[in-house]
Amino acid sequence: MSEDQRTLTTRQGHPVSDNQSLRSVGERGPATLENYQFIEKITHFDRERIPERVVHARGTGAHGYFEAYGRIGDEPATKYTRAKVLTRAGKRTPVFVRFSTVIGGRESPETARDPRGFAVKLYTEDGNWDLVGNNLKVFFIRDAIKFPDMIHAFKPDPVSNRQEPWRFYDFVQFHPEALHMVTWVKSPWGIPASYRQMEGSGVNTYKLVNDEGVAHLVKFHWVPKAGVKNLTSQQAAEIQAKDVGHATRDLYEAIERGDYPEWEFCVQLMSDGEHPELDFDPLDDTKRWPEDQFPLLPVGRMVLDRNPPNVFADTEQSAFGTGVLVDGIDFSDDKMLQGRTLSYSDTQRYRVGPNYLQLPINAPRRDTRTNQRDGQMTCYVDQAGENPHVNYEPSSMGGLEEAPKRGRDHHQWVEGHLGRYQTSRTADDYKQAGERYRTFEDWEREDLIANLVADMKECPEHIRLRMVWHFWHCDEDYGRRVAEGAGIDLERALKLPPLEGKPAPGRRREAPTYTS
Ligand code: HEM
Repeated sequence: MSEDQRTLTTRQGHPVSDNQSLRSVGERGPATLENYQFIEKITHFDRERIPERVVHARGTGAHGYFEAYGRIGDEPATKYTRAKVLTRAGKRTPVFVRFSTVIGGRESPETARDPRGFAVKLYTEDGNWDLVGNNLKVFFIRDAIKFPDMIHAFKPDPVSNRQEPWRFYDFVQFHPEALHMVTWVKSPWGIPASYRQMEGSGVNTYKLVNDEGVAHLVKFHWVPKAGVKNLTSQQAAEIQAKDVGHATRDLYEAIERGDYPEWEFCVQLMSDGEHPELDFDPLDDTKRWPEDQFPLLPVGRMVLDRNPPNVFADTEQSAFGTGVLVDGIDFSDDKMLQGRTLSYSDTQRYRVGPNYLQLPINAPRRDTRTNQRDGQMTCYVDQAGENPHVNYEPSSMGGLEEAPKRGRDHHQWVEGHLGRYQTSRTADDYKQAGERYRTFEDWEREDLIANLVADMKECPEHIRLRMVWHFWHCDEDYGRRVAEGAGIDLERALKLPPLEGKPAPGRRREAPTYTS
């Protein structure tokens, strides 16, 4: 490095010859206002923090690549999609992945019982594709309008500033569709041992579209090569006593020593349509697609092999969104997906700024040519056409032109009365939760019951009774064990009437059909 390259400067490029003292009148005297170097330094420092993510604030990121198999299971991928990122065998696409917890703030412990975020940005040759998923394959709610209520109930109490179990179950008791997710989260699956040993899932239903414009419903899943490992509450407490950032450390150190984590990327496919023959709605993200009917089909693999050179520049400023799809991958009518798609870019224009897509971590790795101009923190002018005077379209004076169409458009016939509908009013919200309970290994079931019993003890009686009523309708043994552990009168709980306006509970006991 030459002497010039080592020299400290201000952001104006002025060399700094004294970085130890501000200018003052005499040795002890007052400071003066024309201290530009000091003012630039301190006022920039005052602005070093941006708002943390309203959810998923605690996270860690890594760079890597995705490699397509060019096939979906045994068939050419082109049969289902024209997305080049999936169809070209051996094609490597750079990725950035951010893992996170959901409820805690930016410095909160990574041992929290919480779903884990699994957000992947693929910098494809056709522009970016973000798959913003979680580690678990289902979610608490199925209508986006409930998200702020749900997050408010799960975040700390606005008065006591504590996460209160009664607020969590107060919300859940009115949303039986959450029971499936609650059964996962309150079991050891609610505390993954590390980010390297957890699954990922897009959770919401998307579509794959081929050259003919034919669509299939699709669910996306990441399967870790290292297998899945989860923690009991006791194990998590022991780790937390020593380290509140164990998952970040684990990922960072693994990549530094060349032990690169890897996941296989799989899809589940279903023909496009309503599927009245199924006992769940394929657009209902509180339900899984049974794997004996809809097997996981390998599509590619992802390897993470580089830590970000700067956490703030990459991890903190990264902005993922469900609206960021490439040609060949499309939206379904899943109401959660549609609500999410508004929320992400909206919050990012506030959290990072209107030009967040110009930041290197968010910008696609191909030219962007838009007529979007100006706004706070414009870093550069997007490439224009031949004539820089023309920032509108169409024009006869050398402006940008529309791209030629790729394949046939996917058209969907939609009709109906505009209104507010309770999605999946007829769904059985108890069946898959009960199956899950019965599928757990004994130690997982015991940990689940112990966690729920501890929570129930902190809830008022009417919430405890209703929750036991719910658990019993998932599985009789499930309800009985929670009731016995928490000293709740099961007979009284079972006398409660069904919830008004909610699907009636069933109690089925078919064999489970899932690999995890
Ligand atoms: C982050 C909204 C459901 C996964 C966020 C953020 C918002 C949000 C506002 C912060 C984004 C940012 O500041 O950059 C919503 C809404 C939902 C919803 C309105 C429901 C209607 C879900 C579901 C999943 C999910 C179902 C899982 C499939 C994530 C992940 C992040 C995130 C992984 C963190 C992304 C990152 O690492 O930057 N969500 N979310 N969200 N959400 Fe959601």
